[in-house]
Amino acid sequence: MNDSPVGVFDSGVGGLSVLAEIRRQLPAESLLYVADSAYVPYGEKSPETIRQRSQAIAAFLLERGAKALVLACNTATAAAVNDLRSLYDLPIIGMEPAVKPAALATRTGVVGVLATTGTLQSAKFAALLDRFAGSVKVITQPCPGLVELIEQGELQGPRLEALLQSFTQPLLAQGCDTLILGCTHYPFVRQVLQAMLPGVTLIDTAGAVARRLAERLQVNELLATGPARATAFWSSGDPHGMQDILPLLWGQQAEVDLLPV
Ligand code: DGL
Repeated sequence: MNDSPVGVFDSGVGGLSVLAEIRRQLPAESLLYVADSAYVPYGEKSPETIRQRSQAIAAFLLERGAKALVLACNTATAAAVNDLRSLYDLPIIGMEPAVKPAALATRTGVVGVLATTGTLQSAKFAALLDRFAGSVKVITQPCPGLVELIEQGELQGPRLEALLQSFTQPLLAQGCDTLILGCTHYPFVRQVLQAMLPGVTLIDTAGAVARRLAERLQVNELLATGPARATAFWSSGDPHGMQDILPLLWGQQAEVDLLPV
């Protein structure tokens, strides 16, 4: 069982930002990654569609022997993690915008959240704010169009900058000094954002998710040991397109197969 793989999925290539942290922290784990690119962006889909897709992908990963699942997607976590946990008895790690660390980090008392419409409208996100925002003012900003640019590998240039400016200027104007990257696609434009917002602290949760996975595997005596293991990729959209973009987002070439669900 310890040699079984960990299954990781996202609506597209965004979850590769989480996969990279998992790979860095847990080199001995064999990893399976599914990009549900035929359905990207999840942020504009109904929770019901996202639940159905998440179940189909989870079933696929379990058939391939997954011993744990990581929803490397804030939007899928908001819509589907409770469902998956009630269906399957194995470690299932989700992710949500880092409201707690951001509330601790802010000095101005104003935190911004960049995330998808689906995440920001979810009951899970409302509960997160109730629990951790305290006296901090949290300003939410949906980012339509941003995931699409990142999916195309457009990680710099005037179009991206104009879009990021339009999302962040209203937050800066209200005194935001801490910005949560509440979607796993956004770390891929972190450098551009940081150059644009020099005094602002950017927070994402990829490292914390990988640590959480390591803890859950450890507690369940499922941690793999031994030499570094491989990562396998599937896409429900265009596997060749994803294969072309992997060197940019994953740092190396790899084969991508068509997801049969
Ligand atoms: N990467 C996803 C997230 O973390 C979803 C992006 C999308 O498909 O809208 O929320």
